[in-house]
Amino acid sequence: MNSFFSSSASARTVRLVSQAQRDDVVAQLPAAERPLAAGFAGKPGQIVLLPSDSICGALFGIGNGEDAFALGAAAFGLPEGDWQIDDMPDALNPGLVSLAWALGSYRFTLFKAAEREPARLVPPAGTDITEITSIASAAMLTRDLVNSPADIMGPEGLEAAFRKLGKQHGAKLTVTKGDALLKQNFPMIHAVGRAAGEAPRLLELEWGDPTHPRLALVGKGVCFDSGGLDLKPAAGMRWMKKDMGGAANAMGLAQLVMAAKLPVRLHVLVPAVENAVGADAFRPGDILVSRQGITVEIDNTDAEGRLVLGDALSRAVEDKPDLLIDFATLTGAARVALGPEVMPFYTDDEALAAEISAAGTAVSDPLWRMPLWDGYEREIEGDISDIVNSAAMPLAGSITAALFLRRFVGTSKWVHFDIFGWNLKDRPGRPKGGEMQGARAVYQMLKQRFVN
Ligand code: BES
Ligand code: MN
Ligand code: ZN
Repeated sequence: MNSFFSSSASARTVRLVSQAQRDDVVAQLPAAERPLAAGFAGKPGQIVLLPSDSICGALFGIGNGEDAFALGAAAFGLPEGDWQIDDMPDALNPGLVSLAWALGSYRFTLFKAAEREPARLVPPAGTDITEITSIASAAMLTRDLVNSPADIMGPEGLEAAFRKLGKQHGAKLTVTKGDALLKQNFPMIHAVGRAAGEAPRLLELEWGDPTHPRLALVGKGVCFDSGGLDLKPAAGMRWMKKDMGGAANAMGLAQLVMAAKLPVRLHVLVPAVENAVGADAFRPGDILVSRQGITVEIDNTDAEGRLVLGDALSRAVEDKPDLLIDFATLTGAARVALGPEVMPFYTDDEALAAEISAAGTAVSDPLWRMPLWDGYEREIEGDISDIVNSAAMPLAGSITAALFLRRFVGTSKWVHFDIFGWNLKDRPGRPKGGEMQGARAVYQMLKQRFVN
């Protein structure tokens, strides 16, 4: 067995109690124990410990009984030790319950030890333990990458993590770094990253049978986004270690694809840079000639993600992928539109959009499709260049950023996720800090597309 789950036969029992069931269950308690449950309403994550193990060891609230992620509160809500669930409600998917429990057991412990061990779950019948473990491990890889500060997770650190991932799965690795980016024609990746202490680079990994359908994953790997010469104010810069959240999601998803040995030819591309200030920094007004030859006038050096992605997407489409997916903490505007819990995604492919939406719902990875609105194309047109990197119109910023990316994907079947990569607050199964978003839904979609 693995570290997320237990196989103990002597595990204590936790009973899942919906708000509707609350009164019936409390009535079953011995009279002496009923006062313990006085404040228990069955709200999601509410816990009552029953020290005498009368009808069970603990009551655990699940609200309306439909949200498996409520169980994310169990790992640190219940005392240490092994637990089993004695009555899985029909409305809850046991695999998702197990996943939520495992995801809730995460702490970022690189710089501060956890105060206690998580309570461990004996996975309920219907849990594919290998699969759920794989998903939880990938999410924790993503979280660790995002939570790691930029002083250890700069372009160097991200390259090391990327190499480790590739080696674990026998993938072929290519790193194009520093001046080699200019020689190999990745001008925008170079321009964004050249002022930083650690050289910019493009990380690539290839894996799988070349005759299988080609899947390309691209992740924004801005290890720190100061804004560049258009420097961010302090509050806006504070959490910008997470600006490689797209890369962390692409890598977590790649780990899932490779661990499951999905029948695809995988190509992962991460432009890893730091958007820094220096004598060598790119400037507002500079005009970059991109890998594809599209000319881009820099309106704002803080719109750097679309630049590094433009060249990475260009490289990806050269190999004619059957499906191209990118993840990026691309805009603040995405958060204005949907807030921190729902991730916008963009694609022109109706069938794919429907598959992704359905997959997101199935695995509790909340997503919302947004439009690649042709009318806003004019907002990124340049006066003296093909396009500008930031629209003059201060509206629809997530859409205009997506339209910028679309200029670089040619006719490929393409999906773009404008993610947050972060939980602002602790929620059950979703601890504060770095988070995998969109990648779990995509993995679910890929399994359905390529396996069944
Ligand atoms: N990395 C940021 C976007 C971001 C900010 C994501 C906060 C998540 C939380 C990106 O590089 C950026 O700075 N975007 C600008 C674009 C603008 C200059 C056109 C933004 O959103 O303000
Ligand atoms: Mn920026
Ligand atoms: Zn950024």
